[in-house]
Amino acid sequence: MSETALSTPDVPLGEPPAPAGLADFADLARAVLPPEVWDFVDGGSGAETTLVANRRALDRVGVLPRVLRGVPTPRTDARLLGATHALPVAVAPMAYQRLLHPDGEIALAGAAGAAGIPYVASTLSSAPIEEIAAAGGTVWFQLYWLRDRGLVTDLLDRAQAAGCAALVLTVDVPILGRRLRDVRNSFAIPPHVLAANLPAGRDDLAHAATPGVSAVAAHTGEVFAPAVTWADLDWLRERTPVPLVVKGVLDPRDAVRAAESGADAVVVSNHGGRQLDGAPASAAALPAVVEAVAGRCEVLLDSGVRGGVDVLRALALGAHGVLVGRPMLWALAAGGRAGAETALSLLAGEFRDALALAGCADPGEARDLRTTVE
Ligand SMILES: Cc1cc2nc3c(=O)[nH]c(=O)nc-3n(C[C@H](O)[C@H](O)[C@H](O)COP(=O)(O)O)c2cc1C
Repeated sequence: MSETALSTPDVPLGEPPAPAGLADFADLARAVLPPEVWDFVDGGSGAETTLVANRRALDRVGVLPRVLRGVPTPRTDARLLGATHALPVAVAPMAYQRLLHPDGEIALAGAAGAAGIPYVASTLSSAPIEEIAAAGGTVWFQLYWLRDRGLVTDLLDRAQAAGCAALVLTVDVPILGRRLRDVRNSFAIPPHVLAANLPAGRDDLAHAATPGVSAVAAHTGEVFAPAVTWADLDWLRERTPVPLVVKGVLDPRDAVRAAESGADAVVVSNHGGRQLDGAPASAAALPAVVEAVAGRCEVLLDSGVRGGVDVLRALALGAHGVLVGRPMLWALAAGGRAGAETALSLLAGEFRDALALAGCADPGEARDLRTTVE
């Protein structure tokens, strides 16, 4: 190499290259976040076997591309829950987003709205549901069943009044999984990050740092109802005028039961490996669920989705769409709303390319692709 080449590099020294894919945001986020916040986001439960299995299972799915089908630029838009969205993708519900960036949920909901995809607002959002709904496009509300039924009805009324287009009941958190990184870090939510949808003071335990204790686990143990039943789902279906989604099923029998109870969709999910360690990867559980529900409701997948090829894989396995979790928090931490917009535009571009390379004109055709498991 000549001396001139050495002294005139193409990329200015010290400037990190722009993210080329969602995974690149992980390093950027890690560099700016306090280690215990990184661990809260990144970690899984127990030995993190399920967390690792999620990625491994997606990587093992081979998609057989079709050829000579004369596809020009594929369309990426898809219908989920009776509405058309720019992608068969929604931003997964994730608690306490002001941990990542001062603009938290407002930034991420805004970015999802700009990208034309739904944003799912967590019960444990650090901004009120009314403000999130005003900032976003299509916003779905995620409900954790609380011990205080009055609080549940209050949240449902507020979500409805705010215009939330669907209700997502999360059913895989009877108690919080043992997230050992949080235990080791004695992790507590900082005082400025509030559970803004709960009455003042109802999140005190989440902020109470105690050696050897996850304050998040202590708080959820205090406020979440541990013994929710199918009768509660029936009650919820009865009083919910918008589409109802049941998030966190892996057993096909539960998926069928949810559909029979009037769920419009199920999310095949192990909560990103944060609940039962030892649960299967969601991509491994997906095909049996798709087969069992046999079109009675839509089937979404989350846990481990890291790019457009994973969206294609999920569709090829029979899903109607996916939720994307941690990568959106990485992008939020790295660059606020602009970071999240960049991440979503990368995801959209990757998905469009994946469809083109697989010979599919639209997401519907991707559901007809065949797969191998290596
Ligand atoms: C930091 C964090 C907070 C989360 N909070 C919630 C929540 O409040 N409600 C919920 O239903 N799921 C929650 N989840 C689970 C996600 O909705 C989703 O199932 C999971 O993140 C998907 O896996 P992925 O992160 O590998 O994409 C959370 C996940 C993370 C990483």
